[in-house]
Amino acid sequence: MSNIPTPLHRARTYEREQAVRLSAEERPLFHLTPLVGWMNDPNGFCYYQGQYHMFYQYHPYSTYWGPMHWGHAVSRDLLQWTFLPCALAPDTEADAGGCFSGSAVPLPDGRLMLAYTGVQPAGTFRRETQAQCIATGDGTDFVKSTRNPVITYNQLPDGFSEFDFRDPKVWLDSTGTYCMVVGNRHKDRQGTILLLKSRDGLDWQYIGEIDSSCCEYGMMWECPDFFKLDGKQVLIVSPQEMHAREEFHAGYGTVALLGDYDEARCAFTRQSVQPIDFGLNFYAPQTVLSPDGRRIMIGWMDNWETCKEAPRRHPWYAQMSMPRELFIRDGRLMQRPIREIEQMWKGTIRHDHVTVHTETTIEGISGRMLDMTVVLNANGSACRRFILHVAKDSSHAIEIRADLARGELVFDRSRGGSHRDIVHTRHVRAEVQNGVLTLRLLLDRESVELFINDGERVVTSLIPTPLSADGISFAADAPIAVSIEAHPLGQITKTC
Ligand code: FRU
Repeated sequence: MSNIPTPLHRARTYEREQAVRLSAEERPLFHLTPLVGWMNDPNGFCYYQGQYHMFYQYHPYSTYWGPMHWGHAVSRDLLQWTFLPCALAPDTEADAGGCFSGSAVPLPDGRLMLAYTGVQPAGTFRRETQAQCIATGDGTDFVKSTRNPVITYNQLPDGFSEFDFRDPKVWLDSTGTYCMVVGNRHKDRQGTILLLKSRDGLDWQYIGEIDSSCCEYGMMWECPDFFKLDGKQVLIVSPQEMHAREEFHAGYGTVALLGDYDEARCAFTRQSVQPIDFGLNFYAPQTVLSPDGRRIMIGWMDNWETCKEAPRRHPWYAQMSMPRELFIRDGRLMQRPIREIEQMWKGTIRHDHVTVHTETTIEGISGRMLDMTVVLNANGSACRRFILHVAKDSSHAIEIRADLARGELVFDRSRGGSHRDIVHTRHVRAEVQNGVLTLRLLLDRESVELFINDGERVVTSLIPTPLSADGISFAADAPIAVSIEAHPLGQITKTC
């Protein structure tokens, strides 16, 4: 036996050394960060043996993307996380170029199966290829299948890509068949999602295409998820290289395609398409079904364009989004922060029907760890423009400008502390409904997530603003009645 540590041993040893140096105070309160180093997509999000497991794209040795490992954390409430040792490292021929994104399925025999993309690096005579791999284990240690890769590009019909073939999401259907959706790039249809099926998780048959971009929604579709929700079928994808159109911004986006699914014919009929998040930092979301039947989604709270320029202030880089409960209302995918957040409320500050006009602060309302709902009562008010500032001091502010007349909101972090000339603003629809506009904000040190009108639209953004900037102010161009409920957030203290 060789004494050279394997890449997995090396990563786990490094994690143990680093863990003792890192304090919880340096992290967000409830957003998951990597144990150390770099993190991107959520992977293998599942509920297994009484806990949620979250794996993540991981490069422990630096705060920049590198050879991809799978980091691992567990939680009972999706807010307080405990790290487990690194789960996968690129250490076989099938994944020598990295263990890319994938999913996890609890098996009937009690084991947990991971499905991930193995990258085979370019050789002298071939380009890099991507193929799908399997590993099984007890929830901490995983053994890779000797048959990896279990799905290669050769199993696909002509026209699909072997370089853009990644991110398997696997589930077991009611007949015990393994089903997989996986991203690919078709030479004509561009971003596309393929369906494959298997009796044993190892031998897979290509079934067909679920849906594709057809040059409308990006060049390559990454990180699919596919599930039933409130009587509809939802396909989630993260497209690369989108053109700006309708409500979609250019670049890396997140898209939900809603429709019907005929399981017998494996046919998805798309009925509508919408962006999932309108913010600056949200990508590659994945969902899990909770034991009480909620469909919960977490995304990477970042973006491939902005992460390159983002400051590295900690020995870790990047965080996951707030976990969100998904539901459908009026044919639209909606999101709400998970209700478990209420366990972090450290009190309630309430102001009903305060009249806001010239810029004002409101007693007790400030902070960078806060769950705050602001309800604007537009009835009978001449107010056209309402401005909310958070993370504010004399030189910084995150500005949320609601144009009540146009039904549009501008999220603007231009004065949020960034030194980079990158996109800092987003425009999003925010209509007054039944006389009110509701804005719920979750602030967690270096991020803000804004849920408009009960999660009809969501804006997720990192904020590089110094933590000392914790002011919140309100202003309007004409008097308007505002109701505010705010809950400072803190660690959950368990009571018996
Ligand atoms: C999405 C993604 C995936 C890939 C992974 C690599 O953010 O590009 O498609 O598996 O990141 O880290």
